[in-house]
Parts: sequence; structure tokens; C-alpha cells
Amino acid sequence: MMSRTRCDRTPAWAQLQAAYQATGKDFDLREAFANDGQRFAQFSQAAPLVFADLSKNRIDAATQELLFELARESGLLSHRDAMFAGVPINNTEQRAVWHTLLRAPAHATTASADEAQALAQVHSTLDAMLAYAETVRSDAAITDIVNIGIGGSDLGPQMAVLALDAFATSGKRLHFVSNVDGHELAATLAQLQPSSTLFLVASKTFTTIETMTNAQSAKRWFESNGGANIARHFAALTTNVAAANDFGITTTFGFWDWVGGRYSLWSAIGLPLAIAIGAAGFREFLAGAHAMDQHFRTAPLETNLPVRLGLLDLWYRNFHGFTSRSIAPYHSALRRLPAYLQQLEMESNGKRVDATGAALPFGTSPVLWGEPGTNGQHAYFQMLHQGTDVVPVEFVAVKKARHSLDAHHPLLLANVLAQAQALMVGKADAGGHKHFPGNRPSSFLLLDELTPASLGALIALQEHRVFVSGALWGINSFDQWGVELGKVLAKDIAPRLASGDTQGLDGSTAGLLAMLRN
Ligand code: F6P
Repeated sequence: MMSRTRCDRTPAWAQLQAAYQATGKDFDLREAFANDGQRFAQFSQAAPLVFADLSKNRIDAATQELLFELARESGLLSHRDAMFAGVPINNTEQRAVWHTLLRAPAHATTASADEAQALAQVHSTLDAMLAYAETVRSDAAITDIVNIGIGGSDLGPQMAVLALDAFATSGKRLHFVSNVDGHELAATLAQLQPSSTLFLVASKTFTTIETMTNAQSAKRWFESNGGANIARHFAALTTNVAAANDFGITTTFGFWDWVGGRYSLWSAIGLPLAIAIGAAGFREFLAGAHAMDQHFRTAPLETNLPVRLGLLDLWYRNFHGFTSRSIAPYHSALRRLPAYLQQLEMESNGKRVDATGAALPFGTSPVLWGEPGTNGQHAYFQMLHQGTDVVPVEFVAVKKARHSLDAHHPLLLANVLAQAQALMVGKADAGGHKHFPGNRPSSFLLLDELTPASLGALIALQEHRVFVSGALWGINSFDQWGVELGKVLAKDIAPRLASGDTQGLDGSTAGLLAMLRN
């Protein structure tokens, strides 16, 4: 990791600044297409199970070459290789970042005895977890599975279970409870019977206050409503098996500190997905991600999709000054994808210092946001087309539908194409309120079908593009100190809410606390 050179300290950075002034800031997509019949071919990229059209982005061949040069000069490739080798690149916690190992096949070639041992552990845990998933699937008495977890212990499995609904077994309802707000758990419990419910307490640390509070309440509800046999009705997914045992849960599936929370969907945290789509489906999901890992690991920079996307992210954030990216999945099953990507990118790259702790002189994580198409079109797309800010949009479309309702899918696909087209071409022939400036950039990710494998590839692609921009920015993308302060303060405030003690609080917090007690 120490061989990394922060992007702004490379020769290519200064050249990119010059390129931005010379051609970048006034780049016009319409002219670029008019001048180059090969633009679509040149700026699109096939990767395993995902095709990306990047041609509607404000980039030309010369800038792209400078971006590749930036990647070379900053040591991106050795940093990537360090991640795959299990080097502790999470330097503030001295941990490896090895989620790629979770999807490596059992017979994969390993580079060290440590890696071989870790891979063997991964597969014995995976086999046990998938065997358990199959047992639950074939247990007709269990009709409801409740995942209790938050952040990475919720967003990944929830997003994936929804996305792969077409592959899910019937007869099992999956519920996700994350918020400490009791309305969420109470509303879920109201639908359940202890005898037919399985609670999965998902927490890497097994200390997260929201999850512990929800798990305690679920256990109390279970016991006070005649539930018996905790071992059958509660399982824990955690790196902290001892804490789960102390809690009274004996059915446990472990993972390791080298799996970051937001990268844990591939570990035991994926159990809800494995129950939904079965062991074979889960293995396909891992295989799709592994195919993307291999692409990221071996494809040359110039044809490496995560690299191309991550470089584009940097170009937009640091040169064009775009501060957000809108995610537009044109598939209703991908409706939690924006929320999932928010944690992935903003918790990873929302950092203001580099890996050495030095303040950064440039912007990092953009704000990610979005809703499924076509719904977003009737809400905030007005701003995307005619607002004062330029927001690059990332469309995600799926060629084949899994329903047989005539007309819907062609109409959906027509809409996604039309939106991307409208953003770019604009409409100059009408003045004033009806003027569309156009030249608004977008990327277009295309899956042939939404399957366990293609979802795995899509998610791994996103993980790696976040790695690329984070690596170039010189930050540690794998810690999340920014979430700690609020946790500490909530611990201080909770007893004050009971006692009314406002001593030492700022005026606003004291005033609000008093109002909440009245
Ligand atoms: O508060 C942020 C965070 O630490 C996330 O990184 C993590 O995914 C989430 O909390 C949940 O943590 P755990 O799985 O340990 O309960």
C-alpha cells in the first residue's frame, strides 16, 4: 500500500488539469458522436455478465489515456494485487480486505499457506451455511425468516433477496428488521407466530446497539408468546460467536475480521439470500462475482470495466466538480440497489483524509441516490434534465424480463433508452422553459438477464469501481470511523432522556431533550 502515490501527486494529474481546461470543460457529447462513428464501440466495455456503454460520458480518447496513465502512476495495480493477496490494506484497523476470497472456488490456486488456510475455512463455513439454508428451505414448519441486522448486515441481503425474488422458493416469507425504531420490529412481529419463525441475528461485531436491541426484543417476544427451542428458532451470523453464545444463541455461522460489513453479503451474512434462492443459486451468485473478480484482476487497464468506471468517477468528481451520481435501475426488483450502493460507496469513500491521515485537497465520494425507473422520471428527472447542476446518471437495464405481461418490458426499455438519449441530445429548438440543454452524461449498464450470477457480477463490479476511485484518492476505503461519534453521543444522551440531565449539552440539544421529555 505504501507504494501508492496519491492521484494529485502524479504527473498525469497536472496533465489532466490541462486537458480539462483545453477540451474537458467544453466537451460536447453531440459533437463527439457526430465526429466519431466508432464512439459507441470505443467507449463501451464488455465484462463478465455485464455490458457497459460509457460513450455518453464527457470523455475523449486522449483524456481516457491520461486517466489510464494516472492509474499506472498511482500504483493502482499493485494496490489491487495487495487486496487480492490478503495484505492488510485497511491500515487504520490493520486488517486484510479479502471479500474476494469469499467467492473464490474451493480449488482456486492460492499464493500462500495463509491464503490456502483461509480459503479452506471459507469453504467449510460456506458448506455448513448452505446445508443449513437447505434444511430451513425443506422445513415446512418454518414459514417466516426475520433478518435482524443493520448497515452491511441488512442492505446487502435485503437488496439481493428482492432482486432475486423470481428465483426464490415459495412458502417462505423473508423479513428485514434494521431500525431501532420499534415500529419496524413491532409491525413485523404482528405478522408472526413463534413456532413458525426463524430469527437470524446478523451482526459482524454482535455489539451494534440497534441489532442487539431488536434481537433482545425478538427473544422476549418469542419467549413470552410460548416460543420454545431457541436453538431451532434463532441463528447468529457474526464474527463474534462468543457474544452470540452469551446472548443465548447456539446456532451460529461465523466469518472473519477481514470481511468488511459492507462487503459481507458473500459470507454468512448472505444466509437470507441462500434460504431464498437455495444453495445452488447462492453458489451461482458467488460464481458471478468471482468472474468479475477475475476480470478486475487480469484484464488490462484499457479493457477493465471497474477501472474504467472508477476513473470516470474521479474525472467527474475532481475535474468537472460533479458532486453526485444518480442510480437509475430500470428493474423494479433492483429497487434497493441505490440504498445498497449508498453504503458501499459513501461509507467506503466518504473520507476527508488520506490513508496517512493528511487532509485531502480534493473531493472524494459523491452523493449517490436514486429510485427505480420509470418512477424516478415522474419525480426528480425534471432536475436531471433542466436543473442547474449536472448529475451523471448510471442506468441499469435488463434485456430479458421474467414475466409474460405483453408490452411492459419493451415500454420499460424504450423509456430507459429515451431518458439516456434525452439527457444527452437535449432540445434546443424551443426556448425558455421548454429548453433542454442536453450534454448531460450517463453510463448504461446492461445485463442480459437478472440472475444470481449476473447480480453477483454487478455487485462485484460496483465494489471494485469503488476500490479504484478510493485507491487513486489515496484513502483507506475500508474503515468507517465517521459513524462512531454519533454512537458514542447516543449512549450519553439515552440516560439523560430518562433523567432530564442537560448539564454540559449545547443549547439546541438541551432544548430538544427537554421538549421530548415533556
Ligand atoms: O455503523 C456502521 C457499521 O459499522 C457498518 O459498517 C456495518 O455494516 C454496520 O454498522 C453493522 O455492523 P454489525 O454488522 O457489526 O452489526
